[in-house]
Amino acid sequence: MKSLTLTTLTALTTTLVPTLAQNAGLNLPSGPELKAGSDVIVQVTRPNSLTGSTELAVAIGLQSCPNSECIEADETLGTVLYHGAFNPVYHEYYLPPYENFTVSVPEGVSKGKAVVGVAHVALVGASNWPFLEVLNKTVTIV
Ligand SMILES: *[C@@H]1O[C@H](CO)[C@@H](O)[C@H](O)[C@H]1NC(C)=O
Ligand SMILES: *[C@@H]1O[C@H](CO)[C@@H](O)[C@H](O)[C@H]1NC(C)=O
Repeated sequence: MKSLTLTTLTALTTTLVPTLAQNAGLNLPSGPELKAGSDVIVQVTRPNSLTGSTELAVAIGLQSCPNSECIEADETLGTVLYHGAFNPVYHEYYLPPYENFTVSVPEGVSKGKAVVGVAHVALVGASNWPFLEVLNKTVTIV
């Protein structure tokens, strides 16, 4: 039992460490309330890590789900508001490298619950391991 647990832990650690080292973060400085028809900043951070990685791209989407359960962001991004290059750089010394994306919340999007989803793709390490993660934040469209 003990050795099984240890093996499981080791397996988890070896798969999780490179993943976590590359994990991006998602901040919405405009807050959890986004105004339909307005421009908002979506901030994507990438912790600096020792494992070299090549950033490929991010896609930022908005899924409107005012009256229902939202679908997992890794299954749908909804309306794509941005897709393209991701170049996180240091701005403030106390923050990890990040890039601010200014995106437009569509005018006609329903008021109420929505999900901002960010798909992030990079190549990690000397072997160029293809890495995909999807981040999300629940917001309210006002
Ligand atoms: C990114 O957005 C935040 C929030 O609005 C702002 O404080 C920061 O100065 C912006 N950074 C850059 C480099 O524009
Ligand atoms: C958002 O991310 C969290 C943490 O990974 C996850 O538990 C949740 O199911 C996600 N929600 C959506 C709508 O994708």
